[in-house]
Amino acid sequence: MLNPGQEINNEGQLIIGGCSAKELAEAYGTPLYVMNETVIRNNMRAYKEAFDKYYGGNGRAYFASKAFCTLEMCRIAKSEGLGLDVVSGGELYTAMKAGFPAEIINFHGNNKTYNELKAAIEYGVGKIIVDNLNEFRLIDTIAGELNKKVSVSIRIKPGVEAHTHDYIKTGQIDSKFGFAIENGEALQAANDSLRYSNLSLSGVHCHIGSQIFDVQPFKDAAVIMLNFVKKLSEELNISIEELNLGGGFGIKYVDSDTPKPFEQYIEAVSETVKETCKELGMEVPFVSVEPGRSIVGEAGVTLYTVGGIKTIPNVRTYLSVDGGMTDNIRYALYKSDYTVINASRADKNEDITVTVAGKCCESGDLIQENVKLPKTEIGDILAVLSTGAYNYSMASNYNRIPRPAVVMVKDGTHRLIVRRESYEDIIRNDI
Ligand code: LLP
Repeated sequence: MLNPGQEINNEGQLIIGGCSAKELAEAYGTPLYVMNETVIRNNMRAYKEAFDKYYGGNGRAYFASKAFCTLEMCRIAKSEGLGLDVVSGGELYTAMKAGFPAEIINFHGNNKTYNELKAAIEYGVGKIIVDNLNEFRLIDTIAGELNKKVSVSIRIKPGVEAHTHDYIKTGQIDSKFGFAIENGEALQAANDSLRYSNLSLSGVHCHIGSQIFDVQPFKDAAVIMLNFVKKLSEELNISIEELNLGGGFGIKYVDSDTPKPFEQYIEAVSETVKETCKELGMEVPFVSVEPGRSIVGEAGVTLYTVGGIKTIPNVRTYLSVDGGMTDNIRYALYKSDYTVINASRADKNEDITVTVAGKCCESGDLIQENVKLPKTEIGDILAVLSTGAYNYSMASNYNRIPRPAVVMVKDGTHRLIVRRESYEDIIRNDI
């Protein structure tokens, strides 16, 4: 399997965005995150076009920056006219430093601090998505201090089951995020918001989970949310302008993954939204989504150098690379599937089965098990595909391993967008 913008040349070398993986590895060292700008921009444009086509422009895609947040990424989202979803003061700070327009930022989080909320209100973010009752009080106080009015949404648990890993499901009642509809707490929270004069509730938000292939749960969530919007209007006289359905569209990690083009999710959900609004006798609200993975996931590749090969007879072969759970925690955390290829011999038959292990002092530090590769030698470059989302953004310094550099490739050119950490960086805050 290869992702968009990738090919194998006549010498069996993996080419990403017109650049040879081997040359990138030589130029920047490994481990290395490689992101393909063309793929990212194409995905963003596809979202924009889908909103124009299916909602007549009355909607927006906000890039969920938690998937991959850097200055350059925020600049790209800005230049493509997407909004941004941030979930911490750090993501917000990155966006502001990149010159991202605050009015198209959504600020999320289930425990935003006073300082984070103050920064968000000072910058003038478009919407704060309220996740608990204390937050209404905090926002109202800060807005009062700053003499501002704040537009908020509430995070709703629509009670929809999404078929994905337990850790990345969020729409069900037993979730730390948001207010449930089924036990009345969402309505109660909306009612509570009316007590505060410095904020106005004008949006509802839900996010049912991540890496979802089925369109039905998104449609179900839309119906439940629109019924809730109607209830808010009838029972509390609250008029909701924006329905945000979150992110979650799945991508291809391995051949057996079969995501639909995400335009199809937008189309299918837009039909449900329009029909439901008609049935409920309501205007179609401004509809938004917050894709993260589906914008950057397939655009990313991680390159590693093989440093050790250990065959344990009748057990398995461990192939150790120079990164690991510090740059990709997803196998250790979720047993996530990935496609691994030998970027230096990608044309050869895959006749060995290996476990790709990282270099951390942790037995669970694996990138992938049961990987089929051609005969691989020390010094070969391995490429792990679809690492653009939740890899760099979840990286750590365990074992004081510096985080890799990030390189952006485009039409045969490459540029550094995040420098590799140095040992000096590692001790920067030590006293
Ligand atoms: N909006 C909200 C409120 C979210 O919580 C998320 C993801 C998104 C949007 C973007 O979802 P996406 O389109 O990327 O599926 N670390 C996990 C994923 C956690 C997702 C958290 N929230 C992973 O590596 O799979």
